[in-house]
Amino acid sequence: MSSLFGLLAILGTATAASIPSAPLNTLLLSASAPSADLAECLKSSYYGTYGGSSASQEHIYLPSEECLSGESALEGLTAGSLVPLNVDTNDGRIVWVGQAGIDPSLSVESLQDTWESISSKSQESLSILFDSDSQKILSSSPRPKAQEAIQLLHQNPTSLLLHVPHAYLPTIDTFLPSHLVPVALPSEPLPAMSLAAGWEPVPAQSAKHLANITQHLRFSPQIDKIVSDGIELNQIRRDVRYLTGEAPSGIESRHSFTPGAIKAAHWIKEKVEATGANCTLRPFLEGFSPNVICHYPSSLNSTEHVILSAHYDSRGSFGSTRAPGGDDDGSGTGHLLGVAHAIGTQGVRFDKQVVLAFFAGEEQGLLGSHAYAENLHKTSTTILLQVQADMLAYHAPGEPLQIGLPESIHLPEASYLIGNLSQIYSPELVVGKTAACCSDHQSFISYGFPATQVFERNGWIADPYYHNSGDLSQRDGYDFEQVVSIAKVTLAGLLTVAGYSVGESA
Ligand SMILES: *[C@@H]1O[C@H](CO)[C@@H](O)[C@H](O)[C@H]1NC(C)=O
Ligand SMILES: *[C@@H]1O[C@H](CO)[C@@H](O)[C@H](O)[C@H]1NC(C)=O
Ligand SMILES: *[C@@H]1O[C@H](CO)[C@@H](O)[C@H](O)[C@H]1NC(C)=O
Ligand SMILES: *[C@@H]1O[C@H](CO)[C@@H](O)[C@H](O)[C@H]1NC(C)=O
Ligand SMILES: [Zn+2]
Repeated sequence: MSSLFGLLAILGTATAASIPSAPLNTLLLSASAPSADLAECLKSSYYGTYGGSSASQEHIYLPSEECLSGESALEGLTAGSLVPLNVDTNDGRIVWVGQAGIDPSLSVESLQDTWESISSKSQESLSILFDSDSQKILSSSPRPKAQEAIQLLHQNPTSLLLHVPHAYLPTIDTFLPSHLVPVALPSEPLPAMSLAAGWEPVPAQSAKHLANITQHLRFSPQIDKIVSDGIELNQIRRDVRYLTGEAPSGIESRHSFTPGAIKAAHWIKEKVEATGANCTLRPFLEGFSPNVICHYPSSLNSTEHVILSAHYDSRGSFGSTRAPGGDDDGSGTGHLLGVAHAIGTQGVRFDKQVVLAFFAGEEQGLLGSHAYAENLHKTSTTILLQVQADMLAYHAPGEPLQIGLPESIHLPEASYLIGNLSQIYSPELVVGKTAACCSDHQSFISYGFPATQVFERNGWIADPYYHNSGDLSQRDGYDFEQVVSIAKVTLAGLLTVAGYSVGESA
């Protein structure tokens, strides 16, 4: 294999267009967290960390042949597997599929059964054909050639690794039972591992900055007034019901490939621009509805950013793209619209730059947020804090109002800050931890940005309509009071970390 790499190098750039870059041919999965003494060639072939509970995390590398044949490359790694890649990685994406974090007693289907159903479904048809009237996938295209089907690369007790040809990526979510979620591996190695000093997912300086803010946190009557007066339950409820189609909007689904998602994107842009922001629709992958990125400029000409986000795309029941997404993630999206509304009505101007980001392609593997975070990394943007709001509304009937912070894949100092802000501005929320897995903040952690997530519940996902075409807001356990309380916390976070002044309404 090393001679093939040599040959490609000699052929040079003149013929590069006709020769795909040599596919990497072995994937390394390790259960041990990356450490400072990892071989340099592994550090520079790191493709991310996956899994919501610390106990079952996987760290993935795509090292070169030379790296693996080196004597010391695998030293220091404990449990792990080497997985031969008999696929052309240029034809699609490698996708990790793992537990979303539903109570394990409810996850009845075995991973082997899941794979068998994905496999047979992917051999029946190319699923990209989509009927916008019936909001259903058409399965009438001819059986694809073997190499065009989804392939199983590896299976372990809690996750699958798949090779997903480009044609299947838009609907990979519809192949999965609701308790499993996909996260696409990046198409290039992640930068964090190239640090000579060892593995620091987020630079220590970012963590210290947030820890210092937490340490000096005091109740501010002005912040309390902005969040209490600004966040309005009725407005959030109206916006969520527009997005789900419970109020007349013509939106039946916000699956990334539906006309409803495009409609939602334009509507969100208009709503947030009315509050003084500047929004752009940013496409990231052919056919997917775009990210909607809304920007409030810095009143002090600062280059530092604070980002609050949600995903506006949604996922339906197994096999369906009808997806009203009332909780997942209409609640996070509605909360973001509530925050924008408060910024507008309270006349908030931020000292630093503030971005409200509405991502798409989340349900197919965090695709929209990954493209956005990758771009922030390439442009060396300074991010002080990023918070993702994904599923804020549901708690089991009878349970208190809650705010869940991630058990893994987050910057702990970012979560401590949010937890402390919650105790100050929304003391009615019980602060806790969740193993709910895999939302857009992970894309930011991958690029070394200080990030965390807010979630509706402490412990497992309990929403019976999770990834279900019946995920509407008018049902037991869907609690707009909890969405309001969490929105007060995230807005308090923006005000605290970005700094602000209040003046005339925008
Ligand atoms: C910590 O925060 C305080 C109060 O906001 C500030 O005065 C101080 O400069 C900060 N220290 C560091 C090291 O950032
Ligand atoms: C919005 O952003 C665009 C491009 O980033 C810029 O050209 C335009 O001036 C901005 N508009 C406002 C009102 O800030
Ligand atoms: C804003 O900062 C940039 C450099 O960061 C500087 O070139 C520009 O003049 C500043 N603008 C204002 C209005 O202060
Ligand atoms: C508040 O922050 C401290 C660290 O400064 C952390 O230990 C504590 O858990 C945080 N509280 C909450 C409720 O998150
Ligand atoms: Zn979600």
